[in-house]
Amino acid sequence: MAIITFSSPTLHRDVTVYATAGDTKTVLSLAEKNDVRIPHDCREGDCGSCLIEVKYLAGKPKMAIDLTDKEKATLQSLGRITAAQIEDAEVNHVAPPFRLACQFIARDEDMIIAFTGEPGGA
Ligand code: FES
Repeated sequence: MAIITFSSPTLHRDVTVYATAGDTKTVLSLAEKNDVRIPHDCREGDCGSCLIEVKYLAGKPKMAIDLTDKEKATLQSLGRITAAQIEDAEVNHVAPPFRLACQFIARDEDMIIAFTGEPGGA
């Protein structure tokens, strides 16, 4: 089970939710299910409006670091991931700090998801 805490100036207080292991919902869907409003538009990984910053908490191995091709391209166009970070994610399983909530599926990590509330503002 993943413990995910959403943190944003738009929230009255941080919201912590539990994602069941094996759940294939994106972080955006998980947020919506829990009335956390992360800005979004396309839901396809194209627009970048659902940009989030991910801080992993210690204790569990990082697992959900697979980036879709669209997510890689969009994060690069936003200047939020480098080619070296992509290689590090794919080769060394080092998670990048920024993700797209509509593409990112949490597995079994505990993390803080931060967003400003502005589209693409992480
Ligand atoms: Fe457009 Fe996520 S909503 S990239």
